[in-house]
Amino acid sequence: MSVVKINALTVPAEMRAALEQRFAGRAGMVEQADGFEWFELLRPIEGTDTYLVYTRWRSEEDFQKWQSSQAFEEGHRRAAAEAAAGANAPAGQGAPAGHGGGAGHGGHGGHGGHGGASGHGGTGAPAATGATLWSFEVVQSAAPGSD
Ligand code: HEM
Repeated sequence: MSVVKINALTVPAEMRAALEQRFAGRAGMVEQADGFEWFELLRPIEGTDTYLVYTRWRSEEDFQKWQSSQAFEEGHRRAAAEAAAGANAPAGQGAPAGHGGGAGHGGHGGHGGHGGASGHGGTGAPAATGATLWSFEVVQSAAPGSD
C-alpha cells in the first residue's frame, strides 16, 4: 500500500518566491529513488499559508531509505545550510529527519534562538522557518478512466 509523506513548510510571505526558486532548481534526485511514485510542491491559495511538499511512495521502507540516502542529502544541501544558519526546522520524526543528518552539519542541534533567521543576509535567509512531516496511508485513489 502506498504511503504519502507531506512536508508542511512554514514560509514567510516575503520568502515565497525564494522557496519556489529553490524548488525550481531542486536536485531532481528524488525521481531516481526506489519506490518513489509522486512529488508535488503545493502553493497555498486559500485557507492556509503552509506550502506542502507532497510525496508518495510504494512503501514506508522506500521512503525511509530515501530519507537516509545520499540523494535526500543532496536534494537538501542548500536547505541544510540554511537550517544550520538558524532555521529551527525539525521535520517530525525525532531523528534528524529533515536534513540535519544530511549535509554533515551534525543536525540542527537546537541552537535556541532562531530570531535572526529572517534577518541575515549571509548564506541567504532560510526560505522555510518551520517544517512538519505528515504521514498518510492511501486508502483509496482514482485516476481518470481507472475504474
Ligand atoms: C527540515 C525539514 C525540511 C525543510 C526545511 C525542507 C525544505 C526543502 C527545500 C527548501 C527544498 C528545495 C531544494 C533546496 O533548497 O535544497 C527541498 C527539496 C525537497 N524536499 Fe525538503 N525539506 C525538509 C525535509 C523534507 C522531508 C522530510 C521531505 C519528505 C517528504 C522532503 C521532501 C523534499 C523533496 C522531494 C525535495 C526535492 C528533492 C529533489 O529534487 O531530489 N523534505 N526541501
